[in-house]
Amino acid sequence: MASGADRRSRGRLPLARQRRGTAGARPGRSARATALERAKAASVRQRYRLLFEHNLAGVYCTTLDGTILDCNESFAAMMGYGSRHELLGRRAQELYFRVSDRNAFLARLRKTGMLVNSELRLRRKDGSPLDILENVLLTPDERGRPRIIQGTAVDITERKRAEQALGESARRHQALADDLRRLSQHLQTVREEERQRIARELHDELGQALTALNLDLHWLRERLAKNSATARRRLASMCELVTTTIQAVRRICADLRPALLDDLGLTAAIEFHVREFEARTGIRSRLDLPHAPLKLRPEVATAVFRVLQESLTNAARHAQATHVAVELGVRAGTLVLRVHDDGVGISDREPSGANPLGLIGMRERAVRWGGKLDIVGVPGHGTTVTLRIPAVKTNREPEA
Ligand SMILES: Nc1ncnc2c1ncn2[C@@H]1O[C@H](COP(=O)(O)OP(=O)(O)O)[C@@H](O)[C@H]1O
Ligand SMILES: [Mg+2]
Repeated sequence: MASGADRRSRGRLPLARQRRGTAGARPGRSARATALERAKAASVRQRYRLLFEHNLAGVYCTTLDGTILDCNESFAAMMGYGSRHELLGRRAQELYFRVSDRNAFLARLRKTGMLVNSELRLRRKDGSPLDILENVLLTPDERGRPRIIQGTAVDITERKRAEQALGESARRHQALADDLRRLSQHLQTVREEERQRIARELHDELGQALTALNLDLHWLRERLAKNSATARRRLASMCELVTTTIQAVRRICADLRPALLDDLGLTAAIEFHVREFEARTGIRSRLDLPHAPLKLRPEVATAVFRVLQESLTNAARHAQATHVAVELGVRAGTLVLRVHDDGVGISDREPSGANPLGLIGMRERAVRWGGKLDIVGVPGHGTTVTLRIPAVKTNREPEA
């Protein structure tokens, strides 16, 4: 639609030509220049008008109190109206869901006189939401007062919807990951308690029964077997069997739950375990432990011990190591366990299809106590597992 200015300029040009015609004289230099300038100005106005009308972005102009003075077809289409004429003269407030949204928009605009890349939610004609990204300028009216709002808007409803869906999916994913972590930590705790219970029962029930049986067998051997060599041999082999069974039960109990961990604490349990590892595997083991025992929560001590056990098992199983070094210490309130082997060095990339449950379990134990686990492998030079647990109690009283 042509503006009033266009209509005025179109009306003026023929009139100028008419005047030139009746006078019969050639127009003067200055008159010709003025006419040329007017024509140029008209053409520039026309170009701007086309830029406004054909712009793919929505362009609008309203008064400060909300009357829609002008807008292009893109803006009308964005708002769900059939044509710009449907919108002209309406109140901008109708395009908002709440009056407070409009007031907040005005307050922000008044503060700096402009809004750059500002996001806003409007209400389409059919009541559905429209998200726009807009640039807005507060401009002066004909009396120089800042009363006219000019803006350009781009429809970002789809983008916002996609962003929201992405955000929701990320939140769901995070919630699921949190659930899994809680479940895994719960399973670790349950497993630890179960091991402790089975170890106790094996020790108390089976261990004690076997010991009693052993004593009785020895008593029998003393008394009954005197007359029969066969009975003596039979009783001797029974005693041997019971003794090896008692040892097996002790070994199983220690594996399930090292009694030393509960009785003498972490440092002693680590020392015992490392010596036993060395004897069993032939891998030379160096130990660097605090001189005084550490007083730790039993659950933290268990976590550290299990990380040590898994690291040593991995060194024996995967590393082809000949030496391991185990260090335990507390530095600035952080408990640090480091297990180094001189084997092949764990690779950054796990083989496809690998299920590194041992590594995951160690990480979970670290996270459970607010710590972290680092595993660094250098090809041909070995692997170092470092567990750090911050803010552990460092008082050096003897453990339980
Ligand atoms: N000390 C190590 N040296 C070399 N490779 C290792 C070491 N520790 C772990 N790995 C590699 O990481 C993989 C995952 O370890 P882990 O989660 O403990 O599973 P598992 O011991 O049951 O195979 C191992 O299969 C092995 O390939
Ligand atoms: Mg393992």
